[in-house]
Amino acid sequence: MDSNRKDPTPAQPERERVVIFDTTLRDGEQCPGATMTFDEKLEVAELLDEMGVDIIEAGFPIASEGDFNSVQEIARRAKKAVICGLARAQMKDIDRCAEAIKPAKRGRIHTFIGTSPLHRKYQMGIDEAEVLARVTASVARARSYTDDVEWSAMDATRTEHDFLCRCVEAAIKAGATTVNIPDTVGYATPDEFAALIRMIVERVPGAERTVFSTHCHNDLGLAVANSLAGVAAGARQVECAVNGLGERAGNAALEEIVMAIRTRGDVMPFYTGIDTTMLTRASKLVSRVTAFPVQYNKAIVGRNAFAHESGIHQDGVLKHAETFEIMTPESVGLKESSLVMGKHSGRHAFREKLKELGYELGDNAFEDAFIRFKALADRKKHVYDEDLEALVDQEIASAHDRIKVAALTVIAGTGGPKKATITLDLEGRHQTYEATGDGPVDATFNAIKAIVPHEAKLALYQVGAVTEGTDAQAEVTVRLEADGKTVTGRGSDTDTLVASARAYVSALNKLLAREGRRKPESMLAS
Ligand code: KIV
Ligand code: ZN
Repeated sequence: MDSNRKDPTPAQPERERVVIFDTTLRDGEQCPGATMTFDEKLEVAELLDEMGVDIIEAGFPIASEGDFNSVQEIARRAKKAVICGLARAQMKDIDRCAEAIKPAKRGRIHTFIGTSPLHRKYQMGIDEAEVLARVTASVARARSYTDDVEWSAMDATRTEHDFLCRCVEAAIKAGATTVNIPDTVGYATPDEFAALIRMIVERVPGAERTVFSTHCHNDLGLAVANSLAGVAAGARQVECAVNGLGERAGNAALEEIVMAIRTRGDVMPFYTGIDTTMLTRASKLVSRVTAFPVQYNKAIVGRNAFAHESGIHQDGVLKHAETFEIMTPESVGLKESSLVMGKHSGRHAFREKLKELGYELGDNAFEDAFIRFKALADRKKHVYDEDLEALVDQEIASAHDRIKVAALTVIAGTGGPKKATITLDLEGRHQTYEATGDGPVDATFNAIKAIVPHEAKLALYQVGAVTEGTDAQAEVTVRLEADGKTVTGRGSDTDTLVASARAYVSALNKLLAREGRRKPESMLAS
């Protein structure tokens, strides 16, 4: 049971190191609605670096100016991690990627091409010989910039084995140091995936000097199992993402991979360099910046992951924790939910509490957070750590917002029309509008839309509670869809309607950030 409760980071001679390659900022960000701003990407990268992630895939530099800039800035700031950029098997992609990772102490170019018959025929319309030629040319070009080149066979698990081996051999010959075998569509099963990795390691010349990597998608819920099966078969790098974020059903969850390796060292003779006590913080940060809630029963980082509800379980855990706990909550950085100061608490205690929760705020942000904490303590009898986290997360997320909710009054109930009067702060200018709607939320959103006209459609409206009790803060998620892209905003308050307005406005701010510098009330109108 959690036999290696000690920190597994130091080298362990009897175990082999598994390299953790995080793709939260690339594959994760590709997932609809998970768009992050420049500052949010830097914040995530900083935490991943501190947590001990070996390689951070920071983005896809050719995809947009924004992606290029964030990869470059992350490369500039990284302290320990290798910073990697993604590039298709095209010279312009690779050149752009090389430019973006240039400031990194250690940079990697990750280039890929579809190898399966489906990808060859329908996506690219090229034959096997052309794929092989592109593998060689792209890897060689990448090697002209850096010694650290990763090559991926997209849709590897649906590629003919002989052809896949020829591609891998060509990549190694051209200079690839890491070869990634993605289960792009999440189709493989653990036995099958292990056999595939084993076959490649055994058959391909040069395999002995190459690091093999897994990149498993979770369409059948098998991403983590497949990745670990790949490691058992010889892979020594796992590509994964915090909270399992990624295309469609997501990627293998970083926290699950790391804790499975740590907890089951008895059957998996491996270790990672991750400081596992930072996993909860990482999960919360990624959830906040993407506004993707974490499923309550999600392994390792879900709210219920260490909660024991039934009498028998509670009794057992109180008598001896290992009766029902295979890992300690502390090992993933989970702290007892504790009561925070009340409305009489001063600035000093508040700052100390924030420090304990892992927040360092600048003077202005601290003052704003303190004022909001006082207001919350006035309305809410018990203020818990989770309340403070929601409050400060919102403060950080909205620090650069151009639209803010200044005031809201709503008339609702059984009789009469539902009416909302909202005042928005548009870069310092206040504008008020009154609107009606089918319900109070609809009326509130209509009023916002009247002040900031836009074509975006509401794709998701979701309400949750930060803690328990009728005075709990509501946490609202709003997803807006515009031009085929989605953005997600989050807002919290003891008043569900205020939280809803904040979430909607937060999503609008993300749209604004994506669209450029025009005035808020005009830029979304087209
Ligand atoms: O899923 C996939 O195949 C990918 C590649 C770009 C590595 O994300
Ligand atoms: Zn992927």
